Amino acid sequence: TEKINIAIDGFSSCGKSTLAKQLAKKLNYTYIDSGAMYRAITLYFLRNHIDWTDEDEIGDALKNINLSFQPNSKTGDSEIYLNDENIEYVIRDLVIAEKVSEVAAIRPVREFAVKQQQEMGKLKGVVMDGRDIGTTVFPDAELKIFMTADITVRVERRFQELYAKNPNITIEEVKANLEMRDYIDSHREHSPLRKAADALVIDNTNLTPSEQLIKVLEECKMAV
Ligand code: C5P
Repeated sequence: TEKINIAIDGFSSCGKSTLAKQLAKKLNYTYIDSGAMYRAITLYFLRNHIDWTDEDEIGDALKNINLSFQPNSKTGDSEIYLNDENIEYVIRDLVIAEKVSEVAAIRPVREFAVKQQQEMGKLKGVVMDGRDIGTTVFPDAELKIFMTADITVRVERRFQELYAKNPNITIEEVKANLEMRDYIDSHREHSPLRKAADALVIDNTNLTPSEQLIKVLEECKMAV
């Protein structure tokens, strides 16, 4: 069958990556976590003390950033590399989450990431999740999904993930971070988080991952 591109957008911690990974596995497609790219750039900026209010400094910094995705040798899951260093784990830290929306709002940063994302989708067979995939990266994607979930459920899910690595983390901190990112992401000037007009909305507050997958696979059949 013909390959398509699948764009998954939505607020933070709505289960976008869970769905995207399931779909990629099921359809034998490539999963691309676009948020990991913005997190990677943020990590580079923080480590190298880049003043991201300075356009020249940003431009120079971006020239030194090489991002790639490679499968984990054991699990086969796609993982992100920054200049040949596996940073899949470190970019999930709250320190990165606190700054990433600020960095992702910068125009040259978006141009840098979007160009590479579009390149990865050229041959189709890609499932990409993020905030602007259906609107900006793949406006012609054959299937677009916009995910939402109740804020309490989202906070709880993200809290469980972060708590496993850092028992000092609090629910309040996690909630504040999700709300802040959603606000900045949907109010920024350059490709803000928006539901594409032709996106299918999935509210997974009361759906298990497998129920959600079944629902979307039905839609895939219709999209090809
Ligand atoms: O998906 P994730 O939560 O890892 O994304 C981290 C941040 O990266 C988002 O809060 C948003 O600021 C930014 N992002 C974006 N555009 C995308 C994906 C992520 O601006 N396509």
